[in-house]
Amino acid sequence: MADSTRSEPLVQIQGLSMSYALAASRIEVLRDVDLQIQAGQSVAIAGPSGSGKTSLLLLLCGLDKPVSGSIRVAGTDLSTLDANGLADLRRSAVGIVFQSFHLLPSLSAIDNVALPLQLADQPDAHTRAEEQLRRVGLGERLHHYPSQLSGGEQQRVAIARALVHRPRLLLADEPTGNLDDHTAESIRDLLFALNRESGTTLVLVTHDMEFAARCDRVLRLHDGVLHEAPAAAATADALPA
Ligand SMILES: Nc1ncnc2c1ncn2[C@@H]1O[C@H](COP(=O)(O)OP(=O)(O)O)[C@@H](O)[C@H]1O
Ligand SMILES: [Mg+2]
Repeated sequence: MADSTRSEPLVQIQGLSMSYALAASRIEVLRDVDLQIQAGQSVAIAGPSGSGKTSLLLLLCGLDKPVSGSIRVAGTDLSTLDANGLADLRRSAVGIVFQSFHLLPSLSAIDNVALPLQLADQPDAHTRAEEQLRRVGLGERLHHYPSQLSGGEQQRVAIARALVHRPRLLLADEPTGNLDDHTAESIRDLLFALNRESGTTLVLVTHDMEFAARCDRVLRLHDGVLHEAPAAAATADALPA
């Protein structure tokens, strides 16, 4: 495969700073963050509530813009893409599981999962959506609407939707946060199988110590500053603040 981006890390962040404007002041959310993630790695991001974890994921998929610094994903500098270009990148290379699911309430589970394929004009959208829902254990809930599903089931629909186009990069914001132990275990196994078998790069914001312990790297955000942590030390205080 001729791919000029092959030797380049899948994610390259340099000097990234981000702040939100509030009435009279600014909140600095990320300060001078540098990060490189090689294709195929699994990376956990831990840190107390409000430390900037979700903001970092939103920047990584181009749903928010930094104040300064650069972000390259799959060989492309995100600042060179307009809204359509960013949407194309998400549809082709990136899967996102949001903390609050963001399922469309008027669509059934299978239609929610098929939607990204349909938007990208891909064939067999419903067959592939059904297959992916079966993989997350929801084969018996295909035609349920989000309001008819439990929180954990909605979470799994969101995970199926993020994976259905087989993205190279999966960004997930506390993907096991709403799940019971048994379901959390099956989601962890599913994500790591995907990482192993398809080389999907995983970036997981998580308070789940079992998740962090299985990742290649654990990063910790504290007041917007990112540290690479030895896995054991990072998981010891990764509980929610
Ligand atoms: N849209 C926004 N406007 C203003 N402040 C925000 C906004 N989103 C997040 N923040 C603030 O930025 C900080 C980091 O938020 P976030 O990235 O969501 O943290 P985490 O995911 O680590 O809990 C928090 O102090 C939060 O209150
Ligand atoms: Mg968050």
